[in-house]
Amino acid sequence: MGQLDGQVALITGAGRGIGQSVALKLAREGAHIAIADINDAWAKETSRNVIEIGCQSIVSQTDVSDYEQVQSLVEKTIDTFGKIDILVNNAGISKACPFLELSKENWEAQIRVHLSGTFFCSQAVARIMSKHKYGRIVCISSVAALMGPIDLAAYGAAKAGIAGLVRAMALELADHGITANAIAPGPIDTELLRSAWPKDVYEERANHIPAHRLGVVDEVAHAAAFFASPQSGYISGTILPVDGGSVAAGAYMVEQYRRRKGAYE
Ligand SMILES: NC(=O)c1ccc[n+]([C@@H]2O[C@H](COP(=O)([O-])OP(=O)(O)OC[C@H]3O[C@@H](n4cnc5c(N)ncnc54)[C@H](O)[C@@H]3O)[C@@H](O)[C@H]2O)c1
Repeated sequence: MGQLDGQVALITGAGRGIGQSVALKLAREGAHIAIADINDAWAKETSRNVIEIGCQSIVSQTDVSDYEQVQSLVEKTIDTFGKIDILVNNAGISKACPFLELSKENWEAQIRVHLSGTFFCSQAVARIMSKHKYGRIVCISSVAALMGPIDLAAYGAAKAGIAGLVRAMALELADHGITANAIAPGPIDTELLRSAWPKDVYEERANHIPAHRLGVVDEVAHAAAFFASPQSGYISGTILPVDGGSVAAGAYMVEQYRRRKGAYE
């Protein structure tokens, strides 16, 4: 018996990385999993893994930044399962760029996928959850929402926007039995992180994290499962860093990191 037996979870960006780990973790707890990802092949691979665990799974190839596609995704999920108990807003992209060179296109893409995508999915799913008077919304923000990220202005702004949205949802959805929380991961070893940073910077990142290592996807999935559980009903509107102590260390560690890179030489 898992703590999510018979529940239905919709997870965006579950084709790989953190989202895939969350899907498998919730499936091991007994939840049926609806997977939404822009990459159909990756989504199907995760879906196969969920079915091997013994839960049901469907795939919807969806761009979360497209309002109409999100409505279709939610309709398909309801047609199949009849309800959605858990939503994990995880889909994301990243493209590092110095602020002075940040293009309008890069800015808009980050805001669309992270912030608008989270809003579109949360609103559509919360309308369903409110009818059942129960729901758990978990958003994957970032430590970039809590401290100034280098070369990630658009990403940080979008992730901080998610934190604001989570607080607003916590207030407005409480009467409907729905909680909304965010996880703020620090650097987690995934393809997204590898593609966002040059190889030498990537390899050095562990040096400016108090835990002296990057995180792994299962550590974020563990936090997501906690927020997704029935037992966390009195926790709403929070932003939980899963970051090896990075936010606690604050500017000091960033300074140390930049000095090591010779930024001031
Ligand atoms: N890896 C990190 O260090 C880190 C740190 C903080 C926050 N995050 C956040 O965690 C989330 C997952 O990151 P990851 O590292 O696993 O990345 P990843 O690139 O491994 O996986 C992201 C997934 O999202 C999907 N996706 C991208 N754009 C989409 C869209 N428009 N619609 C639907 N699906 C889309 C991709 O196809 C992919 O399957 C992201 O929101 C990211 O910003 C990651």
